[in-house]
Amino acid sequence: MIPPKPPSRQGKGSVWRFLRDFRRDILSAQSDRLYRAWMAEFRGPFIHSFVCNDPELVDLILRKRPMDFPKSPRMAAGLEPLLGNSVFISNGETWRRQRRIIDPAFEGGRLRESFPAIWEAAMAGVARLAPLADGSEIDVEPQTSHIAADVIFRTLFSLPIEDDTAARVFAAFGEHQDAQPMVNLGALLPLPRWLRLHSRKTRRTATRIRGLIRTLLTERRKALAEGTAPDDLASKIMRTPDPQTGQTFSDAELIDEVATFFLAGHETSASALAWALYLLSTCPEWQERVAREAQSELRPEFACVRRLETARAVFREAMRLYPPVAMTVRQCGKNETLRDRRAPKGTQLVLSPWHIHRHERLWDNPDIFDPGRWETENGKACASTAYIPFSAGSRACPGAGFAMIEGPLILATIISAYQIEPGIKPPEPIMRLTLRSRSGIRLRLRPRKMGI
Ligand code: HEM
Repeated sequence: MIPPKPPSRQGKGSVWRFLRDFRRDILSAQSDRLYRAWMAEFRGPFIHSFVCNDPELVDLILRKRPMDFPKSPRMAAGLEPLLGNSVFISNGETWRRQRRIIDPAFEGGRLRESFPAIWEAAMAGVARLAPLADGSEIDVEPQTSHIAADVIFRTLFSLPIEDDTAARVFAAFGEHQDAQPMVNLGALLPLPRWLRLHSRKTRRTATRIRGLIRTLLTERRKALAEGTAPDDLASKIMRTPDPQTGQTFSDAELIDEVATFFLAGHETSASALAWALYLLSTCPEWQERVAREAQSELRPEFACVRRLETARAVFREAMRLYPPVAMTVRQCGKNETLRDRRAPKGTQLVLSPWHIHRHERLWDNPDIFDPGRWETENGKACASTAYIPFSAGSRACPGAGFAMIEGPLILATIISAYQIEPGIKPPEPIMRLTLRSRSGIRLRLRPRKMGI
């Protein structure tokens, strides 16, 4: 069975039709040629862009010369009300400084310290699913969102999602996403920054979230001064100085970064988990293998994560077919020549994990769900050249190691507790802030006979 893939535009069409479809759903607006092309040019009234699928081009842009291809402000525009000028958005020296402070919080030893928070959130998630596991259809996306938000809150502030402020932040994020389209049309036009069009609701929810984060940070500052603060992610980034200047983040900068951790860290994991559960629901054989592995290996100790090999292969495969960040955009910082084509300064460069991960000239059976592929020659080769769910190079996701602990662990925990079957209507992938399904991911859960 081929897992759901949105229809693509056949051949070329008018620019206006493309822009109209693009606004509705970026994925199905793309041409089917992108599953075979190494590079494709697009010239619209306000935009000149290349989709870059060639692994050598991806390597150049992300790994070899990332500073010559900064993040596109057009992509970031929609996120600004919430994230300010955080590490997700900034470029140049501002971005370098932010990473110098943030990166130590994600180093190997620190990941081990996050394990108890992830374990507790996984257990709480399984308990929350219990009353829903009666064989009737549920939408699993809000459930995985809830679990991933719980993980990030416990990791950042040592608070479970039931905490009053945490619950208010989570609810406000939900509203913000409803109000915030992925592509802000204002961002496609050459308008000055102050004229960019954000809905009143987007601004209102962003202000509310940032206010709640400010409250949490003020309380934490006090606890740090009194010596009573827990040693969690928030404490770490508040205390860590920039090794070059000795300065820590200001209060305003901290709000930007915490909002980013919350958004980048929970939306993505929630998306990957929901798709991984869907794929397992359609594939009883792999589901059984994950359940059996979980039965023998799952326990509340960090070392068990390494042994969850099947769950990890499934999670990786889910992110290949359904990369949570399905596309990202860089721009040429100066005039370039890419694959013998002129790309003047300002040209937009679309990097599309969605297309690269399903590229017909790179992957064997690209549209098939096969977690066993990572053991094949083709799978191994593609893993290093054509698999970028966390991006790559110096601007790769700092939370990748964390996500690869969280994802397989939660997947294994849920599957060991519940047997899952697909709902009647298959999901329809659609690109929102992250890759979601147009009308949810519907599954049926029942308690698994063997239990945990
Ligand atoms: C399955 C889970 C995740 C996926 C698939 C994912 C994917 C990505 C990708 C593709 C980027 C680069 C985006 C771009 O270049 O436009 C990114 C950046 C980022 N991610 Fe993640 N992420 C995940 C989890 C996390 C977690 C758990 C955290 C933190 C707690 C996190 C924090 C960040 C930050 C701060 C950036 C910005 C890095 C920079 O621009 O220098 N992510 N992520």
